[in-house]
Amino acid sequence: MCGIVGILGASPVAPLIVDALKRLEYRGYDSAGVATLEDGRLTRRRAEGKLRNLEAKLAEAPLKGHAGIGHTRWATHGRPTERNAHPHATERLAVVHNGIIENFRELRQKLEAEGAIFETETDTEVVARLVDRELARNADPETAISLVLPQLRGAFALAFLFDGEDDLLIGARQGAPLAVGYGDGEMYLGSDALALAPFTDTITYLEDGDWVVLSRKGASFRDAANRTVKRKRQKSAAGAFLVDRGEYRHFMAKEIHEQPEVVGRTLAHYLDMATGQIRLPFEAKFDWAKLERLTISACGTAYYAGLVAKYWFERYARLPVDIDVASEFRYREAPMARNGLALFISQSGETADTLAGLRYAREQGQHVLAVVNVPTSSIARESDVVAPTLAGPEIGVASTKAFTCQLTVLACLAIAAGLARGALSAAEGEALASELIAVPGLLAEALKSEDRIQELARDISRVSDVLYIGRGTSFAMALEGALKLKEISYIHAEAYAAGELKHGPIALIDETMPVIVIAPRDGLFEKTVSNMQEVAARGGRIVMISDRETVGEAGVDDLRAIEMPRMAPNFAPIVYAVPVQLLAYHTAVVLGQDVDQPRNLAKSVTVE
Ligand code: AGP
Repeated sequence: MCGIVGILGASPVAPLIVDALKRLEYRGYDSAGVATLEDGRLTRRRAEGKLRNLEAKLAEAPLKGHAGIGHTRWATHGRPTERNAHPHATERLAVVHNGIIENFRELRQKLEAEGAIFETETDTEVVARLVDRELARNADPETAISLVLPQLRGAFALAFLFDGEDDLLIGARQGAPLAVGYGDGEMYLGSDALALAPFTDTITYLEDGDWVVLSRKGASFRDAANRTVKRKRQKSAAGAFLVDRGEYRHFMAKEIHEQPEVVGRTLAHYLDMATGQIRLPFEAKFDWAKLERLTISACGTAYYAGLVAKYWFERYARLPVDIDVASEFRYREAPMARNGLALFISQSGETADTLAGLRYAREQGQHVLAVVNVPTSSIARESDVVAPTLAGPEIGVASTKAFTCQLTVLACLAIAAGLARGALSAAEGEALASELIAVPGLLAEALKSEDRIQELARDISRVSDVLYIGRGTSFAMALEGALKLKEISYIHAEAYAAGELKHGPIALIDETMPVIVIAPRDGLFEKTVSNMQEVAARGGRIVMISDRETVGEAGVDDLRAIEMPRMAPNFAPIVYAVPVQLLAYHTAVVLGQDVDQPRNLAKSVTVE
């Protein structure tokens, strides 16, 4: 994730900005930069690598301006070079950006057709030139921003500084966090409270879709419709410890809302976002084309990520897949293919059963690949190849952002395998990759269903049993949804393949048990709808998770729905994780459970 800082100060701001960027180093980065107004004129210093390289440049050629923006860049579009480092600027403005502008290619083509000359490979420069174009048409900065923001799709946060405007900063949030800090005659912008901790503990987080106009006198907030709105100030505990809950009541809530940003960051580590080409960040040490079989093993939520991946590897790579929970796999003495790959998935990288399964697979001569969130973990160290998820620290015991980052990595691996095995043409691979590029923005969209989910959670909190159903990858998501609910709300929940209902579970159906139906608009949608009608015919109370158009097509009366954004169905599991996570979270909150530390559970089960 990139880091953003902006300051309207009462003294030279460049050193303050660098200090604030140092508090964002935990986010990871590969270049950095600052822009300030020197006698009103935009002036930049940027450097590849660590902040000390930027500090060296500032020592040689100090910046004295009292208004500025700064950035630590984690490369997504374009190599980690000084040229691609932020801030990006034209004569009229400078901008820093965290996240992904998903439609930057079409915007860039339009600007180039109007004669714009681009200097970098980044999506951020497109934003700079769009705003510049409006300023050149005599729009004032606020008007320019209000005209440009609606053109941008994806999950991002932005901060702008304008030539000649020494008492103006503008920030915008869509899917990636941004906070305003209040000082004494100074004002601040930052990616999170941590960056602002050296200056203030009084902050306001922008809500999704918000943008904000800062002067040294204060902040004026606008919503996505450009209406002036009020946003609450709060005290931040960020100074106390490195990872803070920020604006959220629980780490789990924060981590659910971080998903657009961290999934985008993970995606950019496996995919060239400019060309849509898969570019795995590791040397495979095995030949996908020669593999006879793939064995997947993990525990809990990580296992459900593997179950989704089974469908993807079989469908896109035509690779036969065995899958088992690690606690069974480690003792099954499974005979394994001569030229096989064993894939282990683990957020912590320390789960004892998964590590034991890995050791069994290694003894059986398998190539071993691990998808982990902690690259220095035991599972990572004992694997031939490590495919990292870049979810950042996951504090909540219930896994959320790690899960969607695991799915993101697994989707990229399945496409890479399909291309290497000739099961996917280059065009098919690119089409799937472009569907993945849309996922961070769709996650931000899915999060907007939170109010509706909160209402439903009040009903769910009053029952003692819940059934989740789905088909194909949605069956795996039903399993994950049931686990989320039971592990943090303690309500009994189970999941079934929707086609299995008539083989027994349908006997359970009555008006006391809600049935959560996971039904993206995929090839199995009609079948799932007919299962849903079987449930409705027996008085079952249905909650359908689908996109708004298809909910209407279900033909079931008094249906309660959670509406998802319309999307290509292949990677729906990544986006449909949000509603099942939020339903479990809000149900647990209504019940007053300890959401981040549920009873009997540990974040990493390092014992059998
Ligand atoms: C998920 O919400 C649970 N906390 C649990 O099932 C977890 O996924 C499982 O213990 C595996 O942990 P790992 O990913 O660290 O290996």
